[in-house]
Amino acid sequence: MNIKHFLESKITKTLIELTGLADATAQVARAKNPQFGDYQANGLMPLAKRLGRNPRELAQQVCEQLDLQPLISKVDVAGPGFINLTLAASFINAALDRVAQTGRLIDTVATPQTVVIDYSSPNLAKEMHVGHLRGTIIGDAVARTFEYVGHKVIRQNHFGDWGTQFGMLITHLQELNQSKSASNELSDLEQFYRQAKQRFDQDPDFAERARLNVVKLQAGDAECLAMWKSFIAVSVAHCDELYQLLGITLTQEHMVPESFYNDKLASVIADLKQQKLLTYSDGAACVFLDQFKNKEGEPLPLIVQKSDGGYLYASTDLAAITYRCHTLQAQRILYVVDARQSLHFQQVFAVAKASGMSAATTALEHLSYGTMMGKDNKPFKTRSGDTVKLIDLCLESIERAYSLVCNKNPHLAEAQRRAIANVVGIAAIKYSELSKNRNSDYVFDWDTMLSFDGNTAPYLLYSYARICSIFRKAALPQASFTYPISVEAPSERELAIKLLQFNEVIDSLIVDCLPNQLCLYLYELAGYFMQFYEAAPILNASTSEVRNARLQLCQMTSQVMQRGLGLLGIETLEEM
Ligand code: ARG
Repeated sequence: MNIKHFLESKITKTLIELTGLADATAQVARAKNPQFGDYQANGLMPLAKRLGRNPRELAQQVCEQLDLQPLISKVDVAGPGFINLTLAASFINAALDRVAQTGRLIDTVATPQTVVIDYSSPNLAKEMHVGHLRGTIIGDAVARTFEYVGHKVIRQNHFGDWGTQFGMLITHLQELNQSKSASNELSDLEQFYRQAKQRFDQDPDFAERARLNVVKLQAGDAECLAMWKSFIAVSVAHCDELYQLLGITLTQEHMVPESFYNDKLASVIADLKQQKLLTYSDGAACVFLDQFKNKEGEPLPLIVQKSDGGYLYASTDLAAITYRCHTLQAQRILYVVDARQSLHFQQVFAVAKASGMSAATTALEHLSYGTMMGKDNKPFKTRSGDTVKLIDLCLESIERAYSLVCNKNPHLAEAQRRAIANVVGIAAIKYSELSKNRNSDYVFDWDTMLSFDGNTAPYLLYSYARICSIFRKAALPQASFTYPISVEAPSERELAIKLLQFNEVIDSLIVDCLPNQLCLYLYELAGYFMQFYEAAPILNASTSEVRNARLQLCQMTSQVMQRGLGLLGIETLEEM
């Protein structure tokens, strides 16, 4: 149950009744100091001001009228119109018991939606690089969470598999030793791309042949198409390898690349024309909308077709919106894409709305993310200034995790150390991306992400493993352990309330798609657990009742941690 929402709606209802103002609302937040209560309601001050009343008096009246039994054991007015609310211990116990019995850590949504999530979506001519890492990891966490609460998630990997760069690659491949198979030449796709690009930039004849090949490819020339397919196959295999290593839930069935929309592009232009939204500027088809101006205040177009008839990134995105709204019937479409594309999405969304390509009921949201920076505060590169290959980054993380495990736990068998390192190495990469607010740039730093202190994957995994070790030590079945909860000591209470708030965190993740909130929650949960663990003896508790009730709190903490990390796409370990 979402306690915050429940309290908010109850207090709002009371406020409306008392003031007669239909738009009266209260906001409820977790109280800062548990001494005065667990939650605090505010929003009464502006309301009292509107009515020319004393906010404390209004708060007092609300407290008298409010019926929050059996949730709340105490309500008091605080300061100039706040209300402090203390949860009843009996409610906390019963709520956690219910969770233990049903195994349901959160409420599933009452009205499931169809949610399209466009993420990862690398360009296929090259290998995936760090720029796509963030979106892949964040998108996957968002997709897992939406699914968990009961939405119907449709993943879309909008690969960039079409465009002029393929002309250059095809030409380079044609002119290399033709007897070798493409996959041989392409074993290092990155190098192949660089060579082709260099020739394209330096040799005008090559560039001309490349342009001709683009035209041939678009016209469906068999040789060009076959070569293009071989590029795509090699590239997709690279991505798949990476998805598997990282534990990303994207598979072949989610690949709906740009080329999928090729036969739908002409009708995008026709639609816009029919809606009288098209303007030709230097032969290019553009849409001008009033709200988009450049720095000089001049109208800014969205170009949808070049003067040579070629389509662009925007045309494909408009076709994709039509498909997602009308064929996939999405109610929400989330684009997990680099913040640098924010103007593109603003324009595309606005054109889709203006032209009716997007259904009026469908929400279009760009979940943008900042750039991954090196310690020098510049975009992350290798020492030699190249972009870092993702596969190398992951393997390095696993190697570093391995040394860490060897240091910490030298007595473990080699195979086990390797297995732990695989989990910790990947978890560290994922968690360091997820734990920062996606809107900001962030500095990639091996030392912090692999540290056992602070808001890191190793710290959380270790906290989880520690709980498992309590059960191992007592030879008790952790997964099936069920015993009535009874919170008494402050550290038990704090931990128990934190556990109940899992629902609130997940609910807000569904609204704002900020996984860092879930990371922070898990980190704080681990902190509350540590306080409880240090303050309250568990296996040596005074009676078996107390011991079992405390073990039950341990069990639920481990469950919430495992589930929370699972939603982030992070596996847990029972020992490390
Ligand atoms: N392929 C693009 C890139 O690498 C990202 C695509 C994002 N999705 C979309 N529907 N535009 O920058």
